[in-house]
Amino acid sequence: MKILLLGYRGMLGADLLLKLSADHEVHTTGSDELDISSGEACQNVISAVMPDLVINAAAYTDVDGCESKREKCFSVNAQGVKNIAIACRDRAIKIVHFSTDYIFDGAKDSPYVETDACRPLNSYGLSKLEGERFLEAFSDNFLIIRSSWLYGKNGRNFVTTILEKARSVGRLDVVTDQVGSPTYTEDLADAVVSLINGGHRGIVHVTNSGSCSWYDFTQKILRFAGITNLPAFPITSDKLTRPAARPSYSVLDCRKFALLSGNSMRPWEEALHDYMASAGLGKVPIYRRNNLDTLP
Ligand SMILES: NC(=O)c1ccc[n+]([C@@H]2O[C@H](COP(=O)([O-])OP(=O)(O)OC[C@H]3O[C@@H](n4cnc5c(N)ncnc54)[C@H](OP(=O)(O)O)[C@@H]3O)[C@@H](O)[C@H]2O)c1
Repeated sequence: MKILLLGYRGMLGADLLLKLSADHEVHTTGSDELDISSGEACQNVISAVMPDLVINAAAYTDVDGCESKREKCFSVNAQGVKNIAIACRDRAIKIVHFSTDYIFDGAKDSPYVETDACRPLNSYGLSKLEGERFLEAFSDNFLIIRSSWLYGKNGRNFVTTILEKARSVGRLDVVTDQVGSPTYTEDLADAVVSLINGGHRGIVHVTNSGSCSWYDFTQKILRFAGITNLPAFPITSDKLTRPAARPSYSVLDCRKFALLSGNSMRPWEEALHDYMASAGLGKVPIYRRNNLDTLP
């Protein structure tokens, strides 16, 4: 296939480029070559490349920044998706797009399925939901993959932030009342490739399996990095003054993905361990599958 990958320098985009290039002819654009908030630019680039498939990994992903830069946030995450959808509709081009667990309000206490009602708590979630709605309205050939809590080798993320803080501050305060599923972008990229190869459409949830709070996630990061002398303290979200509200529970139910692909995503702890080992993040203890509790 001839694929146009938008946002190839991003955390997920860079992993997608690596995985897709093995079997497909992949054309890429960064924001300097195509600003998706311009409808005309989308038309020009898509008509010049004429791909079989457009993958949109471009987004404005600064969740707190979206509160103060609402215009930019909506111009990329909502209008940008509409621009891509319109440019692809006239040429019958399929679109693969990414969305987020932050379209949900967190009021459930069991994993969210694809058909659950969406009620975002912040501007980022609202802009991503609007992007989904534009895609549904302007394209009849799309796949929306919703994922959550991404980390990977090609960008600053929660894991690198915690390790930076571990080196520079004496203690860490981390929230226990937000629960989700950390997801490794390499695993997500593999899942995306399998959904593309299977020709699937519609909305599909894909995350690493299992769930945890940011506090549990931090404990595991410190443990895998061999950091034993840094206390991490559990706190609640009301102790933090962050511009954007977050859902208290945003675990996604990935059974549809398993059914479509015939594969299940591996546990988040296993993926985190692989990421930290292969990215050289600290002293990593020996890991034995299905035996996480025996780690030092
Ligand atoms: N990060 C998460 O925890 C998370 C969770 C759930 C879902 N998602 C979704 O997953 C997708 C990928 O996220 P990510 O974390 O990999 O993103 P990322 O690392 O922030 O990368 C986003 C990319 O978007 C590009 N971009 C930004 N504004 C643009 C514009 N106006 N026109 C064209 N390109 C633009 C940037 O390109 P340049 O580098 O060239 O400037 C950047 O490389 C997004 O749809 C995001 O909403 C992310």
